[in-house]
Amino acid sequence: MPHLVAPSLLSADFADLKSAVHMVDESPAPWLHLDVMDGVFVPNISFGLPVIRAIRPLTKKVFDVHLMIVRPENYITAFRDAGANLLSVHIEASPHLHRTVQAIKAAGMKAGVAINPHTPVSALEEVLADIDLVCLMSVNPGFGGQQFIPRTYQKIEALVELRKKTGSKALIEIDGGVGTGNARQLVHTGADVLVAGNSVFGAPDPAAAIRELSA
Ligand code: DX5
Ligand code: ZN
Repeated sequence: MPHLVAPSLLSADFADLKSAVHMVDESPAPWLHLDVMDGVFVPNISFGLPVIRAIRPLTKKVFDVHLMIVRPENYITAFRDAGANLLSVHIEASPHLHRTVQAIKAAGMKAGVAINPHTPVSALEEVLADIDLVCLMSVNPGFGGQQFIPRTYQKIEALVELRKKTGSKALIEIDGGVGTGNARQLVHTGADVLVAGNSVFGAPDPAAAIRELSA
């Protein structure tokens, strides 16, 4: 499968979200990555349901919602109703991950599981065959514009192996510090989805940055 790019709205101009969504809508990126932070699971607060609901009519692109919140299982149908197509929860915030994954799928969405840099890929073994996406955090979640953690390459390799072993078809998404300097190597190692916040919205020409990351 050719890789795909998911621009992260976190780095967009929040005073002009409409223009940011339009730019992505006209770009080759098939997904829009939406980072929801609660100030508890991560040391930052971003945006939530009303913002996702407000931008949903602006595009048909896949809304890839990354929940960095505690008790994500309490908000599954709310995010579905707001317009999420794919919902990722953190393994570190989910003591009953299997149940949460089933609930996301029963709500009609694709299910993703995100893991922090310190969490080994092996922690996913028992759910990997049931999920549609693994969001491998390549920075500590909470902020855009951080430096990529190189150890991520080994985690991608381990995940590719585990995916084979478990018969899983989960996409491997890399989230944090992705840009033109590492995109090619990440895809070569096995990444299917590249999340890009700062390297897109911080670029002088965001649309050109998406095209370059998509190539
Ligand atoms: C970080 C978020 C990321 C963030 C990535 O907690 O999960 O999606 O937007 O931003 P960049 O690409 O700037 O590292
Ligand atoms: Zn994210």
